[in-house]
Amino acid sequence: MSEISSSSAAQAKRRILVTSALPYANGSIHLGHLLEHIQTDIWTRFQRLRGHECYSVCADDAHGTPVMLKAQELGITPEQMVEQTRAEHHQDLQDFFVNYDNYYVTHSPENKALCETIYQRLDEAGYISKRTINQLFDPEKQMFLPDRFVKGTCPSCGAEDQNGDSCDVCGATYSPTEVKNPRSVVSGATPVLKESEHFFFDLPQFEGMLKDWIRSGALQEEMANKLQEWFEAGLQQWDISRDAPYFGFEIPGAPNKFFYVWVDAPVGYMASFKNFCDQNGVDFDPFWQEGNDTELYHFIGKDITYFHCLFWPAMLEGAGYRKPTGVNIHGFVTVNGAKMSKSRGTFIKGRTYLDHLNPEYLRYYFASKLSDGVTDIDLNFTDFAQKVNADLVGKVVNIASRCASFITKRFDGKLSETVLEPELVAQFHEAADSIASMYEKRKYNQAIREIMALADKANQFIDSNAPWVTIKEEDKQQFTHDVCSLGINLFRILVTYLKPVLPVLAEKAEAFLNDELNWESSQNCLTGHAINKFKPMMQRVEMEKIDAMVEASKESLVAAQPKSDPNSPLAKDPISDTIEFDDFAKIDLRIAKIANAEHVEGADKLLRLQLDLGGETKQVFAGIKSAYSPEDLIGKHTVMVANLAPRKMRFGLSEGMVLAAGPGGSELYILEPHEGAQPGMRVK
Ligand code: 2FM
Ligand code: ZN
Repeated sequence: MSEISSSSAAQAKRRILVTSALPYANGSIHLGHLLEHIQTDIWTRFQRLRGHECYSVCADDAHGTPVMLKAQELGITPEQMVEQTRAEHHQDLQDFFVNYDNYYVTHSPENKALCETIYQRLDEAGYISKRTINQLFDPEKQMFLPDRFVKGTCPSCGAEDQNGDSCDVCGATYSPTEVKNPRSVVSGATPVLKESEHFFFDLPQFEGMLKDWIRSGALQEEMANKLQEWFEAGLQQWDISRDAPYFGFEIPGAPNKFFYVWVDAPVGYMASFKNFCDQNGVDFDPFWQEGNDTELYHFIGKDITYFHCLFWPAMLEGAGYRKPTGVNIHGFVTVNGAKMSKSRGTFIKGRTYLDHLNPEYLRYYFASKLSDGVTDIDLNFTDFAQKVNADLVGKVVNIASRCASFITKRFDGKLSETVLEPELVAQFHEAADSIASMYEKRKYNQAIREIMALADKANQFIDSNAPWVTIKEEDKQQFTHDVCSLGINLFRILVTYLKPVLPVLAEKAEAFLNDELNWESSQNCLTGHAINKFKPMMQRVEMEKIDAMVEASKESLVAAQPKSDPNSPLAKDPISDTIEFDDFAKIDLRIAKIANAEHVEGADKLLRLQLDLGGETKQVFAGIKSAYSPEDLIGKHTVMVANLAPRKMRFGLSEGMVLAAGPGGSELYILEPHEGAQPGMRVK
């Protein structure tokens, strides 16, 4: 080995604990989960590659009403269901090479003990109070109903079949007790109001601490700003208890009262780590007590920021534990520019992906798009195939395949003793610090860009020296040997830099190079070193496989909802009673062009549309955010009710309604006319 340069200064060994959000134990791992687990896994692998002591833990989030009801539906105990799901989730993640030190479950003795300790400490410190509240109760099921288990008529606009907490049509938010004609989603019964004593955590007492913490560098700036808005809206007492029947941990000294799932879920991070420590002789306390030089990072999606950046640090502080060093927040996954959709086949489960495609393609694609921001990440299948084929197959692996056979066949399988272009090697070595800093800051997209720029240089070097030509010239044998050996060395550096993203490719490269790749040794060159015969390391992505995966994802929905199924859309939404023609004729339906579409600040479900009616523009707030990104709508033609009386909404005036079909959520489809229909035309 010859030492060329050593750009990475030796670093002090850090002690780091990393977590990903705990998947609920009542559904499958899908591409949305995978973005986060892959992001976390890359970061963890990077830290280990740099020689740091880095642990990563995760678990299944076992508790709560949906898990309890799903287990009842399946006719098994929640414990059985949770264990089955946990094992399935763990296997899915491992098959994507997401390797946690421990993948546990929140329904564990460690978690119960830790929850009790934390609760008792909070209670002793005066942060817990009790108060009687009124809640909707299902008299048939004999259970209190969480907001999402109540449906009814919107108290604000009168739209039917709206959720218990918000209206898809007008965007109003309300309490389930305000819903008109409420019904229980669980039994269909009309809920009644019932009193119950609940336990509250005094979040407002932590306002000062939280304000300091969110500006301590623990959060991305955009998220710190978002939290600022929540402070301005005022922090509230947090209801941390739920009544039986509930699958969870009973609150000490309060029979039939359980911790709300969001209390024990983050404690599950600690519990999973505790379980790992006990089995592996690692000291738990330094990672959770104040005053140690350990680091703690949570990777989460932006939808659960409130829990991780307000409740969780407050609970930790109140119970005398350390707060996270960082909460790393990412955006959602969209597929081909739209929300993942079951009927379009873009709601893709991890297992379905694995049935068709190599997991490293996805790891690479996500890495090439992930930044340290919270913008959504679009998985565009054409781009996905092109990027993987061009970068990994066409650039990186190609370097080795172009050089290896000459080394094996003509130079006895050994690299030359000389490093041909030390300046070129120096460029590769000098990039180490900047690439490391990109990984460290979770700017994986920039790291990948830099690595691929180096791969281009390596290919240019091979192209310009054309070893396939010089190998035929007797006096150029040494030169050819040197060129191919340098090509292999450049490949070795590139694969080391990619190792956090592509562990299997790195393993294959290690077998080929007869060498273990790590950050430090990448700063040397292999000289006079025996390598092994080159074997293909990665196949090209085939579009047919992507199509087959999308088809299989569509099928799973069809299979789940046969026509005769009482849950089919028609059965749920029977055709209404007949109306007279004159009633219908009152509705003025028009073709409208969506001139603009944008998010509405503060509205979870609405998009603001500017509809061009051929001379007149109307503003409409449409509850279609869960199915469409604004940019996908602009320019489309649709059908609107043009003579609906304008309604004043919280966000402004809505001057009509666009027509869409589907049950809601991501399954919502706006109506589009045939080509040729012009804005303003009347629909007859
Ligand atoms: O939103 C979710 O999917 C939750 N199960 C995440 C929990 S993360 C942590 F707090 F446990
Ligand atoms: Zn409404």
